[in-house]
Amino acid sequence: MAESNDLTRRDALKVAGAAVIAGAPAILPARAATNSIQFGMVGTGSRGSYLLKHLKSIDTGKCVAICDLTDDALKKGAETIGSNPKKYKDYRELLADKDVEAVFVTTPLFMHYPVTRDALDAGKHVFCEKSLVFKAEEVHALRAQKASKPKQVLQTGLQRRYSAMYQAARAMIEKGMLGDVTYVQAQWHRNPGWKMKKDVPNVRMANWRLFREYSGGLVAELASHQIDVADWMLGMTPEAVMGMGSHDFMNDGRDILDNVQLIYKYPKGRRLVWTGIPGSSHWSGVGGQRTEMGEIICGTQGSIHITIGDDNNLPIGMWFREPAPPPKVEPAGAKKKEAYKAGATMVAAAGSRPLPILLNKDLMTGKESFLEKEMKFARMWLYQKGIMVPLEERNPVDIELESFFNDCRTGGHPRADIEVGMQDSIAVILSNLALDEGRMVQFSEIDKMGKGGKPAKRPGA
Ligand SMILES: NC(=O)c1ccc[n+]([C@@H]2O[C@H](COP(=O)([O-])OP(=O)(O)OC[C@H]3O[C@@H](n4cnc5c(N)ncnc54)[C@H](O)[C@@H]3O)[C@@H](O)[C@H]2O)c1
Repeated sequence: MAESNDLTRRDALKVAGAAVIAGAPAILPARAATNSIQFGMVGTGSRGSYLLKHLKSIDTGKCVAICDLTDDALKKGAETIGSNPKKYKDYRELLADKDVEAVFVTTPLFMHYPVTRDALDAGKHVFCEKSLVFKAEEVHALRAQKASKPKQVLQTGLQRRYSAMYQAARAMIEKGMLGDVTYVQAQWHRNPGWKMKKDVPNVRMANWRLFREYSGGLVAELASHQIDVADWMLGMTPEAVMGMGSHDFMNDGRDILDNVQLIYKYPKGRRLVWTGIPGSSHWSGVGGQRTEMGEIICGTQGSIHITIGDDNNLPIGMWFREPAPPPKVEPAGAKKKEAYKAGATMVAAAGSRPLPILLNKDLMTGKESFLEKEMKFARMWLYQKGIMVPLEERNPVDIELESFFNDCRTGGHPRADIEVGMQDSIAVILSNLALDEGRMVQFSEIDKMGKGGKPAKRPGA
């Protein structure tokens, strides 16, 4: 994520801890593990190591094995987790290890399906990074396979589903606070886009994201998170997608598109518009406080601007109430129409001051003690003055990881389950088809795609 001058997660925790929430620890310590899940990880590159850094402080899971093709990644993974895991270069050996109960699949996209398939066959629970699968035939094959293994957990790495801020936005929509939600606008703009790593032994593999043989490009790597947000917030999945995509700016040997705009048609006139460009990181949402990415969710009664946080940046959720609708136009009489026009102009110009999205912990339940009530009022006052922002107490990545182990132990069902991941992958596959063929693609087309033919050949599979 881009550098930002925002109040960082750590700064805000300090402010919140010192100024207001006396006595309430900002970060809850991980629970003492009774029977932790022994896990292995396949692919200890950038994301794998990031997850290992977070997994290190979660004691309901224990890393017993890691696997990667390169010595460097294995070394980095082992050093990051620090639990002296067994090291493998062939993922099938890790899957044959009886000590491994659950597997994290953090490989490039083209390897998600073969590793996930083999891990499920080996009886393991699986956490697979987004985008869950790469090809249409994998959609059908993995759905069928998972249906035959109901006791094994399969979670997709769509961490926004585990964010308290995004959950609060969804709750506002469910309560009708945004009215009829009809439109989502999302972007992930970078400046510059992904750079090609050059002085490396296997240039194509080290830069797998930039080659279609291994990657779904911007749509798989970036839009996937935001298509999932739109599906969740609208409560439905798209019917069709069309767009424009070209390769215009990053001329370094890559073959993915670098300039992509997509329009998704959902039922009942709903739309998602997504854009990904490499020439600017500006985002107009949340008052321009954040760069690169975020979503604007629009309804008849109000809109939400929202973007996720990470280790250094707080998530931001802002709620704009829709100005009062203009009075109804009278059927006849020029004079009255004039008055309506003037009124409409004024209302359109008025806008509304944003209010912060309140998290569950901030809402009044009526069951608070006197002190709790006073603290909630104090927080609300500080939010409204812009002195403090509602604070997600934990990074959603920590929550998604803990939740995975919990589901493995209890047979629970992940929020980002196979269907959430699959709908997301279907959208990615069909968006890329729409861009390649320059046409509107119906989502029903997936039913016939990838059936009957031979699965695509994958290098290294
Ligand atoms: N949820 C998120 O926000 C998020 C963020 C970043 C990346 N990701 C996802 O994580 C995955 C990995 O991305 P990355 O940025 O870490 O890529 P990366 O290139 O940094 O790491 C991938 C690693 O997988 C290893 N690998 C490749 N084939 C393998 C095989 N057959 N067996 C074992 N190891 C193999 C590579 O050697 C490399 O070390 C991608 O699917 C990406 O979309 C998710």
